[in-house]
Amino acid sequence: MIKKDNLDAAKVLFADDKGLLAMDESNPTCNKRFAKLNIPQTVEARRAYRELIVTTPGLGESISGVILCDETIRQQKKDGTPFLKILVDAGIIPGIKVDAGAKDLAAHPGEKITEGLDGLRERLSEYFQMGARFAKWRAVIAVGEGVPSRSCIEANAHALARYAALCQEAGLVPIVEPEVLMDGQHTLERCRKVTEEVLRNVFIQLNCQRVLLEGMILKPNLVLPGSACPIQESVDEVADITVKSLLRTVPAAVPGIAFLSGGQSAELASARLNAMNVRFKSRLPWALAFSFARAIQQPALEIWQGKEANVKAAQQALLLRAKCNRAARRGEYTVAMEKT
Ligand code: 13P
Repeated sequence: MIKKDNLDAAKVLFADDKGLLAMDESNPTCNKRFAKLNIPQTVEARRAYRELIVTTPGLGESISGVILCDETIRQQKKDGTPFLKILVDAGIIPGIKVDAGAKDLAAHPGEKITEGLDGLRERLSEYFQMGARFAKWRAVIAVGEGVPSRSCIEANAHALARYAALCQEAGLVPIVEPEVLMDGQHTLERCRKVTEEVLRNVFIQLNCQRVLLEGMILKPNLVLPGSACPIQESVDEVADITVKSLLRTVPAAVPGIAFLSGGQSAELASARLNAMNVRFKSRLPWALAFSFARAIQQPALEIWQGKEANVKAAQQALLLRAKCNRAARRGEYTVAMEKT
């Protein structure tokens, strides 16, 4: 039976125009981003970087929750204070990524299935005891010739729904993240079709597994042309088609939608979120918010470069992105904010 706290947490994460900061990169992904900037790929470097993020002064004014990974949720600041305590003291709800990553889907070249259901009930219970109040599971759907297959969409939707039901049983709000990837030459229209098909399947499976829609968060991609598509539509066109697709596929009972950034630049991600809220906010059944990793962190990571002397400047860059995205939730983001 779903707990009342679970419903409250889903609402609190969207309150006051705040959003989520994803800092749940797996170790290999984090190492890859560090390697590009010549930052050592060590546990200590990852810890120091995550300390920079969670100790950013004022972060809680724009961020309601952060998504951690298994390594980070167990870590502490250099002085021994657990990251979990720092977050809770800053009024930020801790969440945890619980999937075990996207693996090759057998007999489906170029397609992935997200693993991690085995032993999930026990892991969720441990994370809840530690203080996590929401969780995340990401499915990835590639777009290409003959891809995605129906079987890939159905297998991933089924896994997302089984995960979400287990989360609600454990008292955690599930973030359900079916990501249609930007990689490729496909058009905006192709992304729209695939995104709608994926979301329809996801909600069929969520209903089938008896997931309470009021106690979950959807984390989808924006509807975008492939990054190698020669035609790149305007911010307003992307906003219009994204909202249209969501209205067709996402039930009104869902309290909020928190977009992933998926490789968009930080500024474009803010501008597109802003345009959706400017044009549609008063007419939508759900909140439109953010749960970005790269589009919040990347400028800060590039400034930090693994050096203690750069921590303050990196924190300022992180805070600026958090503020810009909170403004975008209100439809009040402007390019001028980037210069503050
Ligand atoms: P990006 O915003 O970088 O796409 O990451 C989203 C995500 O799922 C990380 O939790």
